[in-house]
Amino acid sequence: MKILVLGSGGREHVLCWSLKSSPLVDALYCAPGNAGIARDATCLDLDPMDFDAVSTYCQTNEIDLVVVGPEAPLVAGIVDRLEADGFACFGPTAAAARLEGSKTFMKELCDKYGVPTAQWAKFDTFEPARAYIEKMGAPIVVKADGLAAGKGVIVATSTEEAVEAAQSMFDGAFGDAGAEIIIEECMVGEEASFFVLVDGKNALPLATAQDHKRIGEGDTGPNTGGMGAYSPAPVMTEALCDDVMQRIVQPLVDGLAAEDAEFKGLFYAGIMLTADGPKLLEVNTRFGDPECQVVLPRLKSDLLLALMASRDGELGNFSLRWHDDAALCVVMATEGYPGAYGKGSVIAGFEDAEADDAVVVFHAGTKEVDGNITAAGGRVLGVTALGPTIADAQSRAYAAVDKISWPEGYCRRDIGWRAVGS
Ligand code: AMP
Ligand code: GLY
Repeated sequence: MKILVLGSGGREHVLCWSLKSSPLVDALYCAPGNAGIARDATCLDLDPMDFDAVSTYCQTNEIDLVVVGPEAPLVAGIVDRLEADGFACFGPTAAAARLEGSKTFMKELCDKYGVPTAQWAKFDTFEPARAYIEKMGAPIVVKADGLAAGKGVIVATSTEEAVEAAQSMFDGAFGDAGAEIIIEECMVGEEASFFVLVDGKNALPLATAQDHKRIGEGDTGPNTGGMGAYSPAPVMTEALCDDVMQRIVQPLVDGLAAEDAEFKGLFYAGIMLTADGPKLLEVNTRFGDPECQVVLPRLKSDLLLALMASRDGELGNFSLRWHDDAALCVVMATEGYPGAYGKGSVIAGFEDAEADDAVVVFHAGTKEVDGNITAAGGRVLGVTALGPTIADAQSRAYAAVDKISWPEGYCRRDIGWRAVGS
C-alpha cells in the first residue's frame, strides 16, 4: 500500500516511524514532513491545507490511505474532500471534527447527552461576559470557541484576569476563533489524556498518557503545546478507564452518530479527575502531540491495520497488543519558546543519543541545512525512551537528552514527576 501522512511535527514523525514497520506498506510519504521524518518517509513539498494539491497528488501517485495528523485540515474538511474524490482517509469529517473546532459545539453535545463536564456559559459580547465573571468569581476559565493553537484557554486566578482575557478575545487576540467565548467553572484535580480509536460506532481504547503543558518546571508558567509526556498515566486505573468509556466517550460517539456527524478517527479525551469523578475537559479529534510519541512506541500490533479498521468501520471485532513497557518523552524546545525564538541553530549528537536501543529522537521542528540538522521551530525534538517503569524510561530519556549537543535548546528536567514522585 501507498500511504500519505499529512503534517510536520513530532506526532507525524512517530506516525511515520510506526507505519514504516508495517509489512503492508510499500511506500510512505509525508507532506511536508521534517528532517527527522525524512529518515522514515519520503517528504513532499505539499501544504496539507491546499486540498486541491493533496487530491491531485493522491490521484497521480495512487495513494491508498491518507493519515491526517493535525486538527486544522480536519476542521477545514480535508477528509470530506479526499473521500469524495475517492481516497481513503483516516480521521473525522468536518462535521465530527467540530468536537475540537468548536468548544461550544462540544459543550452543547455534552449537555444533550449527559456527559460530565465543567459548568459553562457562552457569550458573543463583552458586557454579559463581564457580568457573568463578576457573578461567578475566581478562579474561572475563559476559552475562545475556535481553534487557537492550544493558546485560547485562560485559567484565571482573579476576576480581573478573567475579564481581561474575555476583553482581549473579543478584541481579536485569536481572530475569528474568539468571536464567541465560553466561560467555565474551574475544575480541580489531576489531568489525563485518553486515546480511543473510533469507527463511527465502535470505540476501542488505546492507551492513557499525561502531558506537561506548562513551560516551567513544577508545571508553572505559560501553556505550551506540550513539553513532555508519559504513558501509561498511573492515575487512570482500569476502573476509571471503563468509567470514562461508558460515561464520556461512548455517549459522545453515539450522540454524534445520532446527529448525522458520525465520528471516525482518533478521539482524544482530555479528562480532569475531580472529587466528583472524571469530567471532560476537551476533546481533540486527532492524536495528541507529544502524547502520540509515548503511546505509539508501546503498540505491538500493526498501526496501519488499526487505522484502516477505524476508517472502514471494522473496529467491532478488533483488538490490539501492547508492550508492557512504559514510555516517556522529553521535548527539547528552542530557548524563548513559547515566546519569540530564533531559528537555524545547529543540533548534534543524535547518534550518541540513539545508541540506547530503547531511545528514539522524534523530530518536530527541524530542517536539514548543508548536511546539518537545524532548529526550525519552537518545539524541536521529542527524546523518547521505553523502560519497564516510568522511572526507568525517564532516566533513559534524560541520559539521551544529555548526549544531544544544542546550546540554544531548552528542556524541562522534571518530565514525569507526578508518576515518579520526585
Ligand atoms: P483545553 O485546551 O480546553 O484542554 O484547555 C487547556 C488546559 O487548560 C487544560 O489542559 C487544563 O489544564 C486547563 N483547563 C481547561 N479547562 C479547564 C477547567 N474547566 N478547569 C480547570 N482547568 C481547565
Ligand atoms: N498535547 C496536547 C495536544 O496535543 O493537544
